[in-house]
Amino acid sequence: MSPARPRAETRYVCQSCAAEQLRWEGQCRACAACNSLVDTVEDRAPVRHRPAGGPATAAPVALGDVEEPESARRPVGIAEMDRVLGGGLVPGSVVLVGGEPGIGKSTLVLQAAAGVVASGGDVLYASGEESPAQVRLRAARLGLLATAAAQRVRLLAESEVGRIVDAARDSAPSVLVVDSIQTATSDELDGPAGSVGQVRQSALRLTELAKEGGTAVILVGHVTKDGTLAGPKTLEHLVDAVLTLEGERYAALRLLRTVKNRFGSTDEVGVFEMREDGLAEVADPARAFLAEHEADAPGSVVVPTMEGTRPLLVEVQALVAPAGYGSPRRTAAGLDPNRLALLVAVLARRAGVGLGAHDVYANLAGGLHVDEPATDLALAAALASSLRDRAIDRGTVAVGEVGLLGELRPVAGLERRLREAARLGFRRAVVPRGGRRGPLDAPGLEVVAVGSVREALDVLLAPGADRAEASSEPGRPRPGRA
Ligand code: TYD
Ligand code: MG
Repeated sequence: MSPARPRAETRYVCQSCAAEQLRWEGQCRACAACNSLVDTVEDRAPVRHRPAGGPATAAPVALGDVEEPESARRPVGIAEMDRVLGGGLVPGSVVLVGGEPGIGKSTLVLQAAAGVVASGGDVLYASGEESPAQVRLRAARLGLLATAAAQRVRLLAESEVGRIVDAARDSAPSVLVVDSIQTATSDELDGPAGSVGQVRQSALRLTELAKEGGTAVILVGHVTKDGTLAGPKTLEHLVDAVLTLEGERYAALRLLRTVKNRFGSTDEVGVFEMREDGLAEVADPARAFLAEHEADAPGSVVVPTMEGTRPLLVEVQALVAPAGYGSPRRTAAGLDPNRLALLVAVLARRAGVGLGAHDVYANLAGGLHVDEPATDLALAAALASSLRDRAIDRGTVAVGEVGLLGELRPVAGLERRLREAARLGFRRAVVPRGGRRGPLDAPGLEVVAVGSVREALDVLLAPGADRAEASSEPGRPRPGRA
């Protein structure tokens, strides 16, 4: 294909920042990462191939003459995913779907492939990670073999990006799936699959392919332990949209978030449940993350959080127990451990809730991860509730950011949060006092505005508060109660 290639050169590419050096050193000069340089033989052949029959030069086009890109979004047939994408896949765009191993990425993209077929498209599915037989097995499990997808999703057991691109040029599918970008390699490079150079080069080639025609490309990408996409940071810059699939591997709920989207809002989230037959959309996401238990339990408080523009009610759970020897434990799952440490300190100094001699465990029900400071008050209340072994009424929600002085700070979108809580049958909300003009419009909800954590705890943990409305309409299903 390419004419006489210039001689290959060895470069040392930093695996964390993709900077290149001529010599190996123990530390990257660009980002100071240790032991991150890997030798990569990179030949200097031009990698920007001009597409056969494509335009000879990239001539400037008047702004008004540029074709509208929105013209033909291709829905993937999964409403939650389409919404997150901003209305479907844009032809010629590249979408990266990231997530931890085993979270359901391949399942999601295979279901999306079937959805593309259902709307009249066809899909080329290049799998470097699994054999066609394995992909077929998954398709059978998802019930796709009896649909048009059985014919119009074509599998390609190939991980060399040049051959994937050639196959895609030959068949011009509406969507090309590459599962995963970490297994993709380019013959133009000698480094191992998954190395920074290979991932970047493969992504570059696939991006070029997308830009030259109507094919939309979906890349599946792995996420490392600390939650960042494996491979070079540049990967996120190369693609048009980055979606991440999150959740607790052993819990059923999955959240599809947008980290970046050139063609839509980054505020949308999709909520799914992993079932026997694949990922199913959750009918009422707002209540999905509420744990069901028999009776009021000390240490449990519900907070109306916002995921993008969507209110979700989430149960914060805390357990406080006397510590043994050594420094007490502070464990947080789904919550920021630094926030937990801070709240423990604020509770001790500003609210008379001393946890210094206690182990503290806190988590969110349903495997959700929330970094919003608006969960502060609920977490603080859950800790105090557990310490005093006094349950908080289950018909009550608490929301607010806690400051270092123990003051409560206002949160964005309070009214939306509270209306959602009211819709789900909650009767009372403890919220920050400040930050509002006009009254709150949340029909059916008794709103208690307080100025500090101490005040909030007085309301939430008042003796008998948990029994106050036990005889009235339940806030949400309480099977254990008469
Ligand atoms: P998979 O899509 O292979 O995850 P990834 O590509 O992100 O590594 O799915 C992984 C898990 O999902 C696997 O452990 C089995 C489970 N699963 C189901 O529960 N139901 C299903 O219908 C499918 C296909 C998978
Ligand atoms: Mg997979």
